[in-house]
Amino acid sequence: MRLIRAADYTDMSMKAAGIIAAMLTIKPGCVLGLATGETPLGLYRRLVDSCNHGEVDFSQAKAFNLDEYRGLEPGAEQSYRFFMWKNLFSKINIRTENLYIPDGMAGDPEAECSRYEAAIAGCGGIDLQLLGIGNNGHIGFNEPGDSFAVDTHLVDLSESTIDANSRFFGDREEVPKQAYTMGVGSIMRARKALLIVSGRQKAGIVRRAFFGGVSPDVPASILQLHSDFTLIGDEAALSFI
Ligand code: F6R
Repeated sequence: MRLIRAADYTDMSMKAAGIIAAMLTIKPGCVLGLATGETPLGLYRRLVDSCNHGEVDFSQAKAFNLDEYRGLEPGAEQSYRFFMWKNLFSKINIRTENLYIPDGMAGDPEAECSRYEAAIAGCGGIDLQLLGIGNNGHIGFNEPGDSFAVDTHLVDLSESTIDANSRFFGDREEVPKQAYTMGVGSIMRARKALLIVSGRQKAGIVRRAFFGGVSPDVPASILQLHSDFTLIGDEAALSFI
């Protein structure tokens, strides 16, 4: 594991944007794995700026998102498809046919999961997977449990995740109870993994996940076994280390 200490959220975002920009330079047709949530917003703003200034080029890149709620229309403001379009895809020169997000409205969840895994494999696998970490140690929507779920699958969201995500919905009752997520295996198959984390409220889980044992109780802890894993945390998130 490579640990990069950032001074604050802005610095974390800059350092992560630098890594993604370098990947796009080295391999313009790279396959990026992307995340939603609050943490990557600063990084996405930087990438948009860099793209507008001609410093990065997404025209040959492909992007796979980690996860999507089940049952939300793609146009729904809380869907991850909407989030990605609003915060990144509509503002950079990536081609729409190169964007992949699980279809939250798919009628057959099992077929949707297989289709998604096959699409990743069909593009040659993910070169760089961007991740955030949930307060309970989840990555994607791989929630704490008895075993690591390997491939893309449908999950029942934990109460703590529903609580955490209710800030994006008018009412807790509106938060979907299920979501599609890449599995821990899908994430670990990425050639590089990059996790960004900010804020003191994540300091405890950062210590458990990356400086404690590897266990499905803390899904992110599996990243300790990844051969090319970079953790970028700001001072607050790394304050217990
Ligand atoms: C989002 C995702 C989640 C988030 C995590 C942290 O696509 O996969 O695992 O990365 O919940 O969310 P924030 O960044 O909002 O704290």
